Amino acid sequence: MQSHSENLFPVHHEILDRTVKEKLLQQRARVVWLTGLSGAGKTTLAKYLEEELFNRGFLTQILDGDNIRSGVNNNLGFSDADRHENIRRIAEISKLFLNCGIITINCFISPTDDIRAIARRIIGEEDFIEIYVNAPLAVCEDRDVKGLYSKARRGEIKEFTGITSPFEAPRQVDLEIRTDLLTIGQSVAKILEFVLPEILYREMQA
Ligand code: ADX
Repeated sequence: MQSHSENLFPVHHEILDRTVKEKLLQQRARVVWLTGLSGAGKTTLAKYLEEELFNRGFLTQILDGDNIRSGVNNNLGFSDADRHENIRRIAEISKLFLNCGIITINCFISPTDDIRAIARRIIGEEDFIEIYVNAPLAVCEDRDVKGLYSKARRGEIKEFTGITSPFEAPRQVDLEIRTDLLTIGQSVAKILEFVLPEILYREMQA
C-alpha cells in the first residue's frame, strides 16, 4: 500500500492542549490497560472500577474487546496480524481520549509481549498503566462465561486464546490481580489504590 504520510498535515491539539482539558475535568488522563485471558475478569473489573471512579468524580470510558470488535474493528479476526491491528487501532483511539483528558479502561486480551509493546509505544510509557488480570487457564475454562472455551475445545472456534492461540503471561506489569484468589471487591480496591494517585489532579503539572 502506498504511504501518503508525506502529504498529510495532522492537526493534533495545538489549539487547546490536554492540560487545559485535564484542568477542566480536574483529573489526569491515563490508559488503564487490562490484559489477560478471556474469562479472567477484565470486563467485570472494568465496570466496577468505572463505577468507583465515577462516584469520585472521574470521567472514564471503557473500551472492551467484544464492543470494539462489533463496531470499529468488525473487519478483524483473531489471526496474529489482526490482533496486532486490533490493538494498534485501540491504542490510537485511547490516545484521542487521553488528549481529551479522559481516563480509558481498556479490556483486551492483548495476548503477546509484542502486542502489548505496540500499545505501550503508541500511548506512551507515562500514560500507560498495565494490569494483568490473571486467573489460571483452568479457572477461566471452568468459568466459561461465554461458552467459548467449550466451543474452542470442540474445534468450533479457531485460534482461540489459551487453547489454539498463544497467551504470553506479561512479566513486567504495574499490577497483577489474581481473580481466582481475590473477590471482585478486593480486586477493585487494589486497582483503585494503584490508579487513584496516578489520576489525581495536580495544579502545577509538568
Ligand atoms: S485480542 O487478542 O485482539 O486482544 P480482544 O480482547 O479484542 O482480543 O477480543 C477478545 C474477545 O473476543 C473475547 O473476550 C471473546 O469474547 C471474543 N473471541 C471470539 N473469538 C475469539 C478467539 N478466537 N480468541 C479469543 N477471543 C475470542
